[in-house]
Amino acid sequence: MSGPILEVRNLHVEFDTYDGVAEVINGVDFTLDRGETAALVGETGCGKSVTVKAIMGLLPSARIPEGEIIYKGENVLELSDSQRHARRGKEMSMIMQDPMTSLNPVLTVGEQMIDVLKWQGKPRLSVTEWLRDKVGSGSSSDGEYRDRAIRMLGNVEISAPERVFNSYPVELSGGMRQRVLIAIALLSEPDLLIADEPGTALDVTTEAKVLDLLDELVEERDTSVLYITHDLGIAREVSDFINVMYAGEIVEQAPTTELFSSPQHPYTRGLLDSIPMLSTDIGTGIEGHLPDYTDPPTGCRFASRCPHAEPECTEVFPHLRETRSGHAVGCHLFDGPAAYSRDQATTSTSIDIGAPPWESRSDEAAPSDTVVNRGSEQ
Ligand SMILES: Nc1ncnc2c1ncn2[C@@H]1O[C@H](COP(=O)(O)OP(=O)(O)O)[C@@H](O)[C@H]1O
Ligand code: SF4
Ligand SMILES: [Mg+2]
Repeated sequence: MSGPILEVRNLHVEFDTYDGVAEVINGVDFTLDRGETAALVGETGCGKSVTVKAIMGLLPSARIPEGEIIYKGENVLELSDSQRHARRGKEMSMIMQDPMTSLNPVLTVGEQMIDVLKWQGKPRLSVTEWLRDKVGSGSSSDGEYRDRAIRMLGNVEISAPERVFNSYPVELSGGMRQRVLIAIALLSEPDLLIADEPGTALDVTTEAKVLDLLDELVEERDTSVLYITHDLGIAREVSDFINVMYAGEIVEQAPTTELFSSPQHPYTRGLLDSIPMLSTDIGTGIEGHLPDYTDPPTGCRFASRCPHAEPECTEVFPHLRETRSGHAVGCHLFDGPAAYSRDQATTSTSIDIGAPPWESRSDEAAPSDTVVNRGSEQ
């Protein structure tokens, strides 16, 4: 089946901090189609984890003053806590960034896996209920769950699955713990898998293996994947579509091949230019840092770092505009229809700051289907 499985619309997330309200996520829009792998890419601190935790309902200390998170046609922000809890694990699963803190250190891997299988889609248990179950009959289905869990550990290429099943997280290496997390996330055969920088705790070789493995498993099950990474090289390897995030906003979104062949936003171009071999940390070649979320700029949040900024950029917000089919960019250098209908009202606030300099250079042939921008009239 095609069509979107997940639509994030105009999402805003804020936190109360000692310095005031931090407006971290500022009107994020993106869509994930069924069976597609899309990446959310941006430098550390740009709001990737906050966005996906909002999707999973894992942000107890945050406010979501505006926005919709539509999963299979239903706005999950309107569901009760218990309804969202029931969908977590069963429908949507997440591999967290840090394998050590995501696993419970006092339970064996096996106990944690059996808990997932036993309680997925069920109402949240109190600690007393959970303990009663643990010391109780030992449940006749535990044997079946045990077999499924051990099989899944084998599927993620753990060579001694029984031993790992009986181990505590602290007894395992970082790579092994990450595989365990992937196995746990896949146990319930979710329709949507969110992988939040699953390679962060791994060495490069193990990370590559884990990525391949994830790819294979996802292909077999036709799972939709939202892959979070700070590494554009990895995003290119794993995804069909890329959303580039900067300071809590999507600044560019396009199919992966299109983004690499015709990057438009100055931030995306900076990222590409700063990546030797296309696989290193994001942002290392772009001077400056993210703005303060408690006092964000009113116009373009990238303006203080942008080599093409004009005074108007700091005053007028650059809404996402569709410059080609499926390719949208939020920058005053580009014109096009508003990418999202709620932005139609803002069309009149667009400003003309001229042509992107990289498109007017004669020694750098622009692609023949280069976007039409207002600056080209000058
Ligand atoms: N619970 C919180 N309270 C206040 N600020 C938070 C909270 N969680 C995250 N933030 C802030 O939100 C910003 C984005 O964080 P995060 O989404 O973790 O970034 P990323 O995953 O892109 O590295 C950071 O400045 C971080 O400090
Ligand atoms: S809107 Fe202006 S400051 Fe922002 S990325 Fe575009 S050119 Fe740079
Ligand atoms: Mg993160």
